[in-house]
Amino acid sequence: MSGTRQRCATCGHELAETDAQVRCPACQGLLEILHARPAVTGAALRARFDGRRVPPRGAGGGAQESGVWRFLEAVLPTAASEIVSYPEGNTPLLERPTLGRWTGLPRLLLKHEGLNPTGSFKDRGMTVAVTQARRVGARALACASTGNTGASLAAYASLAGLPALVIVPQGQVALGKLTQTIAYGARTLLVRGNFDACLDLAEQARERLELYLLNSINPFRIEGQKTIVFELLQQLDWAAPDWIVLPAGNLGNTAAFGKALAEARDWGLIADTPRLAAVQAAGAAPFAASFQEGFARRHRVEPRTVASAINIGNPASYERAVRAIRETNGVVTTVTDEEILEAKAVVDGAGVGCEPASAASVAGARRLLRDGVIGREQRVVAVLTGHLLKDPESVTRYHQQTDPRPPHANPPVEIGPTLGELERELRSRDAR
Ligand code: F0G
Repeated sequence: MSGTRQRCATCGHELAETDAQVRCPACQGLLEILHARPAVTGAALRARFDGRRVPPRGAGGGAQESGVWRFLEAVLPTAASEIVSYPEGNTPLLERPTLGRWTGLPRLLLKHEGLNPTGSFKDRGMTVAVTQARRVGARALACASTGNTGASLAAYASLAGLPALVIVPQGQVALGKLTQTIAYGARTLLVRGNFDACLDLAEQARERLELYLLNSINPFRIEGQKTIVFELLQQLDWAAPDWIVLPAGNLGNTAAFGKALAEARDWGLIADTPRLAAVQAAGAAPFAASFQEGFARRHRVEPRTVASAINIGNPASYERAVRAIRETNGVVTTVTDEEILEAKAVVDGAGVGCEPASAASVAGARRLLRDGVIGREQRVVAVLTGHLLKDPESVTRYHQQTDPRPPHANPPVEIGPTLGELERELRSRDAR
């Protein structure tokens, strides 16, 4: 096979790499990117990737400092000079004893994607898809979003000098995300409907108004998001963990992780394939319902969870996510909102911090240990997808709730400006 191409994952129809359609013109299926096998593989490819781990070079580093473009051969080998990069990626892999104890998994690691430039993993896909948008001559960019995709698109559109339209469900987007989207300068529409309605609308608008769509149905987004997996494998010196656990909403990331692992194996980067565990909020779990039935059919639900990022009832990347779970001998599980909020409080209290949807991966890892799916001694990487400050309201709500008082509540206390009041308060808290 020569060069990079796009292929419909449903009917196999092929398109040129620079074709700007985001769905198959023959059957409306989702497209995927096929790369040529790199000229070198195995240890030589690992060495090439490792050699690009350069320290920051000061002003204007751009793509050369990016934790996405370091994996060029696996992302978009033909993008050379016109890359739109913040830069992004290079997120830490953290080990925190508190989390090991709380989950019961002493070898748990956290891949903190919330430390990307706009505070979520979306930047990894956005650098690639906005680069591609420029290559195909797109004149305006658009997405539907539960918040993070919109914030990321708004920033990268600005970097690329292109106008952006962000369509979000009114009243269902966390404050930090909406704030970013407006501040970075995207035209922001608050739709009276849920995310699934926003995505439908974005697809209709794409056709009618010739917008370039940057939701994760765009296959170039997937290519960038794969680098979460490449980077964590590299951080582990290419010794694969037993499990990678991630929150699942529209299923773009689950699909990306499956593709990354297939390529890492085919290209000899890793010897063993980690198993994927996709975690949904119990109130928004159509993928978990399908998994329970051996993926016999696709489910749609009316979603309802406090983790607004994954409040999605009809995930767009269903088919490619099914493949990711099947090919990695993976599992799909659910956690309740209470479990999510408790996991979040523990992640936050460990000084790490994440938004509610991200904590689903940590809560999910704990649940899978309890269910006997993950073993206590196994090496597990849980992905934290978004930053603590994305959703400040969820923090205030949790810590100030009194009836019942949540297990890790840490409410602030108001006092007068005297040492007496301060000492009284400290003593009364110690006595509690
Ligand atoms: N975690 C966070 C913080 C997210 O923002 C999202 C998705 C997910 C997990 C789930 O990833 O959709 O690939 O399964 N946010 C999208 C958005 C839907 O519009 O920002 P997924």
